[in-house]
Amino acid sequence: MSHIDYAEIQALDRAHVIHPIAELHKQEQCGAQIFVAGRGVELELADGRTVLDGFSGLFNINVGHGRTEIAEAVAEQMRELAYYPSFWDFGNAPAARLAGRLVELLPADLGLRHVLFGTSGSEANETNFRLARLYHAARGRPEKKRILSRRWAYHGSSRATGSATGISAYHVLADLDPDHLHVAPPYCYRCEFGKVSPGCGMPCAGDLEQTLQREDAGTVAAFLVEPVMGTGGIVPPPPDYFAEIQEICRRHDVLLILDEVITGFGRTGRWFGMEHWDVRPDLVSFAKGISSGYLPLAASVISDRVYETLRDQLPSGLPLMHGFTYNNHPTCCAAGLANLDILESEGLVENAHRVGNHLLERLRKSFADSPITGEIRGLGMLAAIEIVRDRETKEPFPNVADTHWIANACFERGLIVRALFQSVALAPPLCASREDVDRMLAVLEDVWPEAQHRFAGRS
Ligand SMILES: Cc1ncc(COP(=O)(O)O)c(C=O)c1O
Repeated sequence: MSHIDYAEIQALDRAHVIHPIAELHKQEQCGAQIFVAGRGVELELADGRTVLDGFSGLFNINVGHGRTEIAEAVAEQMRELAYYPSFWDFGNAPAARLAGRLVELLPADLGLRHVLFGTSGSEANETNFRLARLYHAARGRPEKKRILSRRWAYHGSSRATGSATGISAYHVLADLDPDHLHVAPPYCYRCEFGKVSPGCGMPCAGDLEQTLQREDAGTVAAFLVEPVMGTGGIVPPPPDYFAEIQEICRRHDVLLILDEVITGFGRTGRWFGMEHWDVRPDLVSFAKGISSGYLPLAASVISDRVYETLRDQLPSGLPLMHGFTYNNHPTCCAAGLANLDILESEGLVENAHRVGNHLLERLRKSFADSPITGEIRGLGMLAAIEIVRDRETKEPFPNVADTHWIANACFERGLIVRALFQSVALAPPLCASREDVDRMLAVLEDVWPEAQHRFAGRS
């Protein structure tokens, strides 16, 4: 990439670009890593270095980098019709086709058959909050408007989705929306009730029940959950969790919104996270892997029950007064269609299952006995090692910068992993081979002894 003037790009970036989740002062001082190209699981930087993408960007580049099929589909759609709104009775072919294919892929018995495409996970969740509230209002219960979610969940960065997010680091100096409440997560390694699963009676689900009783279920519209908590540290739930919370939601007339922004489109080794458990969501949010990040795309999918209530019970003549300029964007949907073609024709969901099992096995083999390993967990191409100062007491290291140290050391040796609070996480593209995963883990293995030495010796 000799035509890129790295120094000039760096200078412009430092001066003018705001980077999410970055310390502004440090960013200005140190500058950014400038990425210029990607192929498969590899990325190239402007200074000529290459790195392995062990995190698929932000859990989203499911088909891997450099897929010209998507570039071509996008270019073709742009040449025909780059954009036109889908408000009122206007429509376009890619959105209709993608909605049809998505509904076909979803488990047929769940009745998830109505789709509104958007451009981000936050937007998909916001749309679902609004539709859930409208559903209750249309049935004459407008007071059912609060949204419950779980501590350690991540749901987005808008005011509502940031409030639904249950990670305190995202709430510093934030003006939270009081219509959002948090309940206990099924984070068994750090059970808030000091219980051991299985056989614990699932007090985390009990906390949902108690919160609904205490706060008055008559004021609650929906419970929002990730199938596997992602940003909170890759936390899959115990097997019976979803059946339990679903029964509680039904009993209290609270809708269940599944946030499949990370887990959708093969990430967990099945097409959708919901397929691992007995769960019947009323609304689902998708983003990320739906287009593998080639263009911004998200989807709010609602069940027949919610859709038919909105269709039949909203006041006659009242349109659905909700919409964003880029809903059902034809070019973004064309990217989504080409992305689905690749996932299907290359069997990447099955690959994620196979290679994901290998990833977890290899992590266990190499790191389970380390004195700083608390727990290794994952599902499909989602995996994490939670590090601890004391394996017996599970005492965490007081400094979350430790996992960042590991991520930075990996980057210097050619691998991107991500520090998720106390956990070091991997989420390779679904096209990664076992050999790709082995190359990734070789870097982590190289870094680990130094991490152990640095952290373990400290008081
Ligand atoms: C589970 C989950 N939901 C929602 C979001 C928000 O998506 P976006 O960043 O596209 O708004 C994210 C982003 O990481 C996520 O992980």
